[in-house]
Amino acid sequence: MRWIHAAGRGLLVLVVILTGYAASGARAGEAAADGRGPLTLATAGDLTGYLGPLLEGWNRDHPDERVTLVELPDSADETRAQMATDLRDGDRHRFDVLNIDVNWTSEFAAAGWIRPLPRDRFPLGAFLPPVVGTATYDGRLYAVPYVTNAGLLLYRKDVLAAEGVPPPRTWAELERYAETIAPKHGLDGYAGQFLPYEGLTVNAAEAVYSAGGSILGDEGERVTVDSAAAREGIGFLARGVREGWIAKDALTYKEEESKQAFQDGRLLFLRNWPYAYVGASAPESEVAGKVGAVPLPGPDGPGTSVLGGSNLAVAAHARHPDSAARLIAYLTGERVQRQVLTRGALPPVRADLYEDPELVEAFPYLPTLRQSVLTAAPRPKSPRYDQVSLAVQAVVHDAMSGRQTPEAAVRRLARELAAISKH
Ligand code: GLC
Repeated sequence: MRWIHAAGRGLLVLVVILTGYAASGARAGEAAADGRGPLTLATAGDLTGYLGPLLEGWNRDHPDERVTLVELPDSADETRAQMATDLRDGDRHRFDVLNIDVNWTSEFAAAGWIRPLPRDRFPLGAFLPPVVGTATYDGRLYAVPYVTNAGLLLYRKDVLAAEGVPPPRTWAELERYAETIAPKHGLDGYAGQFLPYEGLTVNAAEAVYSAGGSILGDEGERVTVDSAAAREGIGFLARGVREGWIAKDALTYKEEESKQAFQDGRLLFLRNWPYAYVGASAPESEVAGKVGAVPLPGPDGPGTSVLGGSNLAVAAHARHPDSAARLIAYLTGERVQRQVLTRGALPPVRADLYEDPELVEAFPYLPTLRQSVLTAAPRPKSPRYDQVSLAVQAVVHDAMSGRQTPEAAVRRLARELAAISKH
């Protein structure tokens, strides 16, 4: 699908599979009285190869409630922009069910774009506890957790073993190994997702949280970023680029580019989501069999990951809300959740799967991931999350590119966030 993203950047790219996008013509007259009928499911276009067959299963069993998959670009920001355009356009909207990034729930709910859902229709009690929090806003359920995510530190097992050192638990160890061991083995030291987009907000928040800081409090009402901890976190990232143990190339990486660098054998350490561990361990990877994963390090011990993942929401204008809820219950049920992991390499939201011996054998990082999800911290909750994230990305990228000191960057970010929360 990558060619599509290249060709369609900035445009509305809709790749429709399964039934073809014939629905729009029939739409006006087809609303069924009981809220049942055909649907569209809009999702970011990355990592969705496994979804087609899953939805085919649903379509076979529910011929009157067929779902058409609409794939949007794979960058979180571009997908959000396209969803927002569609949801604002009340009369002509196309999306019924939306697979939204966990951090968009507040914004979409506050804008009235998605509808509150009855809690008793979904197996919320079966989910890992932190994920349910990302689906609520103002005390109501606005989405249902579908996939979770937590950052891991991937490392080259072979290289650390040759040097006789264990994987790093602290920033000081990470810096030291990245600076001294990586060049001896012809590798770059450390990378994450440092292009200015949502991924950089994630990496910056993780650095700030790991140092004990925060960005916003009280659902976006209070700015808390101007702290020594935030300066330490941003300072860690900026120092890496300045000292060369973070490769300059990493300032242009999203998830995929950074995964590729690791998988091609160019990196000693990589912060990424678990799907990258699966990719780097696959037979076609240059580093298959040489990859380890541990929790993200922090200043004095394990750090804090941001809670990633996505939730399924129903558009306020959805044509068939009952079918939408039924589809969501299907996608969050045991069977499909298992396939989200086994076929999609994405972390499921159902807690019991993390303790399933067969799955743990096939996905040895599951216990580490479970721990990382349970201790992960959400991104700032704000009805203006998009603006908050844009400010974080711009400021942190300036600090990492050496255009501003971490101290000045944190002061500027505090000012910009205060201006956003006042409007
Ligand atoms: C992953 C995460 C998502 C995050 C995005 C950033 O898709 O699941 O929560 O916003 O990466 O690029």
